[in-house]
Amino acid sequence: HTRCSSVSWGSEMCIRDSYKGAFFKMQILFNEQSRTFHLTNDKISYIMTVLPNGHLSQVYFGKKVHDKADFSYLIQSCARPTTSYISEEFHNIISLSHIRQEYPVYGTSDYRQPAIEICQTNGSKISDFHYQSHSISKGKPKLENLPATYTENDDEALTLTIHLQDPVTLVEIDLLYTIFAQNGIIARSAKIYNQGKDDVHLTTAMSLCLDLPDCDYEWLQFSGTWSRERHLKVRKLEQGITAINSTRGHSSHEHNPFIILKRPTTDENKGEAIGFSLIYSGNFLAQAEVDTHDVTRVLMGINPTTFDWKLEPNTSFQTPEAVMIYTDDGLNNLSQSFHKLFQKRLARGYWRDKARPILINNWEATYFDFNEDKLVTIASKAKECGVELFVLDDGWFGKRTSDYAGLGDWYPNTDRLPNGIKGLAERIENLGMKFGLWIEPEMTNMDSDLYRNHPDWILHVPGRHSSECRHQYVLDYSRKEVVDYIYNLLAKILREAKISYIKWDMNRSITECYSVAYPADRQGEIFHRHILGVYDLYERLTSEFPHILFESCASGGARFDPGLLYYAPQGWASDDSDAIERLKIQYGTSFAYPISSIGSHVSVTPNHQVYRLTPLHTRANVAYFGTFGYELDLNKLTPAEQEEVKEQIKFMKEYREIFQFGTFYRLSSPFENNVTAWMVVSEDKETAIVGWYRVLNGINLPYSRIYLQGLNPDFCYQQSIDGKSYFGDELMNIGLVIDDPSAGQPYGDMATSCDFDSKVYVLKAINK
Ligand code: GLA
Repeated sequence: HTRCSSVSWGSEMCIRDSYKGAFFKMQILFNEQSRTFHLTNDKISYIMTVLPNGHLSQVYFGKKVHDKADFSYLIQSCARPTTSYISEEFHNIISLSHIRQEYPVYGTSDYRQPAIEICQTNGSKISDFHYQSHSISKGKPKLENLPATYTENDDEALTLTIHLQDPVTLVEIDLLYTIFAQNGIIARSAKIYNQGKDDVHLTTAMSLCLDLPDCDYEWLQFSGTWSRERHLKVRKLEQGITAINSTRGHSSHEHNPFIILKRPTTDENKGEAIGFSLIYSGNFLAQAEVDTHDVTRVLMGINPTTFDWKLEPNTSFQTPEAVMIYTDDGLNNLSQSFHKLFQKRLARGYWRDKARPILINNWEATYFDFNEDKLVTIASKAKECGVELFVLDDGWFGKRTSDYAGLGDWYPNTDRLPNGIKGLAERIENLGMKFGLWIEPEMTNMDSDLYRNHPDWILHVPGRHSSECRHQYVLDYSRKEVVDYIYNLLAKILREAKISYIKWDMNRSITECYSVAYPADRQGEIFHRHILGVYDLYERLTSEFPHILFESCASGGARFDPGLLYYAPQGWASDDSDAIERLKIQYGTSFAYPISSIGSHVSVTPNHQVYRLTPLHTRANVAYFGTFGYELDLNKLTPAEQEEVKEQIKFMKEYREIFQFGTFYRLSSPFENNVTAWMVVSEDKETAIVGWYRVLNGINLPYSRIYLQGLNPDFCYQQSIDGKSYFGDELMNIGLVIDDPSAGQPYGDMATSCDFDSKVYVLKAINK
């Protein structure tokens, strides 16, 4: 990178947004006198300043403000009793414990959790980073071996790199800040260089630190467990630490690497909020620490609890990227900004902008009990109904007739598939469908050829018991030879057979994280190195097979994170395929992730996870707001149901671009109400689709309306259920009146009134 320590300059760029023809302007300004940086576009300002003693201080992140030469009045730091000061020279002026900082350390007068901690050969963990120089460049640099947001041309973003140095260890840091032209997005990461003579250990290296001046926020997190992922949890920030994390080796079912801080009055359609997302699939930490003067420090990055990276002289460490988005337009607007960024500038490749094929997956139809003919029978009926892609799930390889054996042996089981994957894929293609395949490349069973030949290829501590989960072990992807071996097996299958889709599963957390290939002082690197190995395999397979659609999966949604979206534009959201359970899962997921990324299928009733009976139309009405597919044997449905399925598929084919790529609005929350509602609107606002779902039926119910969002107030829309027309402003301000058979009918009607009912309304502009 180039440096310009003494030069005062800024960079300004204008771009015209290709969709809306609107004019966006972004700038990175540097005032040499006050050493103040101001990143700004038409939405936000992000301001930092270099303090007289060289520390980099956070000044402001929020709605756009005018630039000024000097914002130093915002560096609030008064002398307080029992305060320690960084330097006598600045006695009574600057204590780091009262300064909002960009990349703080612990132990030099700041007592909060730090962004970086470096353990040195003398045992000291103290460091002190000072501004050295900075540079500004167009576009956004790629992060080495890590997923990250990107630009397609240099006009879309500007990047500021601020260079810091610790004078004692000679460790240097490049803090990267990218401002995008559109929306309130700042992408951040840090690269740490050891320019000294001695080894150091990085024991904390966060991707982002943001010190906010007050704590009047609610904290939103998306948490759960297997089959209950990404449920919205809200709590008020208080003095002390609020945090979520993962220590499982993957982002986890338990917590998603995404949080929102919102003002208490902010709702879906108005008010301030900041979303924080870590583009990473391994152990993470997201926390907000409120000090006793109500300053809030947000930290996000690799979880320090399980991290210790030995940084030898002349080597560097790149943190994952974290993205912050600010809005003053409510949570729907915040989510829409994340959706657009993740959909267009995080996901990549051939499938990024394409409507996704309607698929059928045999897992819930057969589990491990199948052979070639049975699969072809399922596929044939699906083809007849209009399905485009048949996916063969677990059980096709090695001795995998149950989950006790076979993982790692990625060659077809010819007892079940006498013509191999190649032969089955040909039969499916001959039906006029595409063929897809399940893999779980990071795992092995003890009962497998892989394990018998390479027992030291799993993560384990020699001499200790290795804990099991689903009878399987995690391969040591910190070792290149292990990744190479799996790559060769998988690439062979993908080269030989006509495969259009891969479902990449990952079904257990890491225990006994230790690699026999690394020395004692590098064991703290293994969790991260493992994830780098996973990314390496993804990168190799997706670049060698660019036309294959990859869907990520991890016992459902245990790794539904932005890191994987970079490689796989969609992910199986949850193993819970029940439509009612899915309301909360998909609603929670939608806060960060675009509808095009949410794998959602229609499955049988009674549902296999919760044994609930739901109407077929509701199962489809929920699954439409995702990638859409079927997880059952359509042969087992009645002829009338099969006809209904044909209609569903026809409907989805007509509207899938709008479902998957339209602007999504949450309207009524399943976490608060018996009724869930959401909608999508096409880019030109000429078509909108509204989903309405009522969990429990009632009797003699109140009348029900939903207030729509995002329509053109002047367009007149024809509504698909009653065929009547309504103005956009009418539907948004007076509401869409739900045609509810249970309202006003004291005795209900068995045919039309039931629990788990739902409706999907299509609105089409007829006068524009
Ligand atoms: C995981 C996945 C399921 C299915 C099974 C197969 O649980 O989430 O969708 O693929 O593995 O073993």
